[in-house]
Amino acid sequence: MPTLGDVLEGKTICICAGSGGVGKTTTSAAIATGMAAQGLKVCVLTIDPAKRLADSLGLEELGNEARRVDPALFEKQGVEMKGELWAMMLDAKATFDELIARQAPDEESRDRVLENRIYQQISSALAGSQEYMAMEKLFELHTEGQFDLLVLDTPPTRNALDFLDAPKRLTQFIEGKSLRVFMKPTGLAAKVAGRGASVALGVMKRIVGFDLIADLAEFFNAFSGMIDGFQARAKRVDKLLADPETCFLVVCGPQGEPINEAVYFHRKLVEAKLPFGGVIVNKVHYPAEQLRGADPVDLPATLAEKLDDEDLARRVAANFSDYQALAERDARNIEHLATELRTKGVIRVPYLDEDVHDLAGLAEINRYLFATGEERVAMAAGRA
Ligand SMILES: Nc1ncnc2c1ncn2[C@@H]1O[C@H](COP(=O)(O)OP(=O)(O)OP(=O)(O)O)[C@@H](O)[C@H]1O
Ligand SMILES: [Mg+2]
Repeated sequence: MPTLGDVLEGKTICICAGSGGVGKTTTSAAIATGMAAQGLKVCVLTIDPAKRLADSLGLEELGNEARRVDPALFEKQGVEMKGELWAMMLDAKATFDELIARQAPDEESRDRVLENRIYQQISSALAGSQEYMAMEKLFELHTEGQFDLLVLDTPPTRNALDFLDAPKRLTQFIEGKSLRVFMKPTGLAAKVAGRGASVALGVMKRIVGFDLIADLAEFFNAFSGMIDGFQARAKRVDKLLADPETCFLVVCGPQGEPINEAVYFHRKLVEAKLPFGGVIVNKVHYPAEQLRGADPVDLPATLAEKLDDEDLARRVAANFSDYQALAERDARNIEHLATELRTKGVIRVPYLDEDVHDLAGLAEINRYLFATGEERVAMAAGRA
């Protein structure tokens, strides 16, 4: 059974993907910390991290660039850090602006786009722009080549696959047929913009507050010169994602639906010939060793004796048996997942008592993430 360290050996990019709320941000931060601790220079690109996690990584004052996490923080937590951990929080709007600045043929077209109200709306609201910008930032960091390993957290999409298509969707949107109409010299926009506002436009202007059509026309005209650049870049991003040095980890929860989504996502990755590295089941209910062995029928009585409170004992026993039922369900679901993926290498991380919001929490997650095969088996059985 390969360890996570084996899976990531020689990889330069690790992408943690999965549906919303399963623990992608936590897992990416933990993996980056674990790999940095082993001696690599690692950067984790997080997306909307919980405030406390961001604070504990010193992320609160970050601009749209990577910063090194203060080594003293690890010392304080007693975590040995042989390498360097860098972190950044994605700012999709700032990344989009930087991209425009890079693609624009000259300063004037750059400013025309950046100052355009349609662009300003699109760059922060366009569905998928966050996904696209995550890819874009990843590509940029990879091209700069400063890090041994980049760990990418992915946005909370309803569909875990959305971000894969994001670069393509954006270029399709920009070059879409319905929009081409605006770019043609004889198009509607040219007519409108050329001739000044008609009565209808005057009405529209009053409603939306600005000259929508003229702005649209200007936006698409300025953008049209950049389409080729965007397409070329989208292709290079695709190539990077499919590179053998890239590794996709699927993160999921242990409930039935997340497990099915993970199976589906794995299949899609394989179909798209993207390098699948492994699956991490987070927030697993581990069987509780301490009470196991006690006869469930006798449990209330045993507990009543210990707790000296029959009512409390009954409630604790009920809670315990609910928990055991969840642990059994999780074990069944994970077995199903392992069969579907034809792997024994499913990595489990338990549902910890508290949210993971500091380096100590990440270190606790890492005990499981980086465990060897035997350790994993022992831990899953509640023996470690
Ligand atoms: N193993 C765990 N045990 C206990 N709490 C956890 C565990 N993993 C993550 N959490 C907590 O669950 C919450 C969600 O985790 P996280 O933010 O990593 O999920 P996410 O997949 O990134 O969510 P989103 O899709 O919204 O971005 C956080 O409060 C985190 O601290
Ligand atoms: Mg997240």
